[in-house]
Amino acid sequence: MVHQRILSGMRPTGSMHLGHFHGVLKNWLKLQHEYDCFFSAVDLHALTTEYAAPGNIKKDTWEMIIDWLAVGIDPKLAHIFIQSKVPEISELHVLLSMITPLSWLERVPTYKDQQQKLKDKDLSTYGFLGYPLLQAADILAFKSDQIPVGEDQVPHVELAREIARHFNHLYGRDEDYQKKAEDLINKLGKKPEKLYRKLLNDYQEKGEAQALQQGYALVKEQGHLSAQDRERLFGYLEGRGKIILPEPKALLTEVPQFPGIDGQKMSKSYNNTIILREEPESVEKKVRTMPTDPARIRRTDPGDPKKCPVWQLHKIYSDDEVKDWVCEGCRKAKIGCIDCKKPLIDAIIKEQAPIRARAKEFSENMDTVRKIVDDGCNAAREVAGETLKEVQEIIGL
Ligand code: TRP
Ligand code: SF4
Repeated sequence: MVHQRILSGMRPTGSMHLGHFHGVLKNWLKLQHEYDCFFSAVDLHALTTEYAAPGNIKKDTWEMIIDWLAVGIDPKLAHIFIQSKVPEISELHVLLSMITPLSWLERVPTYKDQQQKLKDKDLSTYGFLGYPLLQAADILAFKSDQIPVGEDQVPHVELAREIARHFNHLYGRDEDYQKKAEDLINKLGKKPEKLYRKLLNDYQEKGEAQALQQGYALVKEQGHLSAQDRERLFGYLEGRGKIILPEPKALLTEVPQFPGIDGQKMSKSYNNTIILREEPESVEKKVRTMPTDPARIRRTDPGDPKKCPVWQLHKIYSDDEVKDWVCEGCRKAKIGCIDCKKPLIDAIIKEQAPIRARAKEFSENMDTVRKIVDDGCNAAREVAGETLKEVQEIIGL
């Protein structure tokens, strides 16, 4: 069975923390079994904000990759690579920059937001404006039609979509296209072929919008088709040109808000993280000093878990029995906050133990890690190189 390809990327921020693990990495662990996954350490994206002091990027990249491996990203299932080591992506970025209107980049919401937030840095650079375009190059180089990302990245995937569509519109008009679409239709099988042709006719000749929707549904049902072939049949139905770059969609996953040890969202920039490789003593200390419901000044004051970040963690780590014990104990002041935190500390340390052990093993065997990344880069270069070649040819270079 041919698996669909999925690409995702993460900026190298050094050691991964629990927020990364429960937010992104657990999802990657699942996806690697279902898709042909490419996971990119996007060091060039890091450079867009760290260009003035890039000293840590290399170290952070390797630390991050060690953690990916330690949590169980399996090089037999997924390709791990470093963005700057796949120059085909950068070249695609240049080519896409030719067709990208400045206004499209300027209106991406993260552009102004981040400039505001990172005031200590001068982000009035071309590279920073082009951040989402570089991400589009990442995505389009792999022709990944689904991109697993968090809510905050949706505008970037949208931009990649618009760029793909614009590119296809500009360059996708050739005669070969009709022939390829026809060949595909002929191979659909008798019934679907007949239905597709009827819907094509209803939509193209009679303008029946409903037929377009039915056509989409029909093509989606053809499970054996690759993403690209499906795109071609969608496009043919719509009367579009040749699809060189399939339009990606965000694959959104519900992720629990993971609180940091100060109760805000866990993030390196807030300095409130528990890293995956945190020493057990340090985990204990950090959780013990976490803020709780401010109403519980004395042990005898009742509290409300809903107002307590520790409860957010129980929701992730504890079973129903423990959770009932927390709620009852907190509301009726039967337990103290230190009691409440104890099972949590144990659960976190238990979760981390195998990860820490594996991370240690990998960091003591960097040759193995480098080999894994080498292989990943080669696989990535092959795929991205094919796309690049196609793009160069169709542009006429
Ligand atoms: N911008 C993404 C982030 O900050 C990282 C990223 C870069 C990415 N290229 C990507 C994510 C491609 C998904 C696909 O999280
Ligand atoms: Fe929070 Fe638990 Fe204390 Fe209640 S008992 S305030 S849930 S730490």
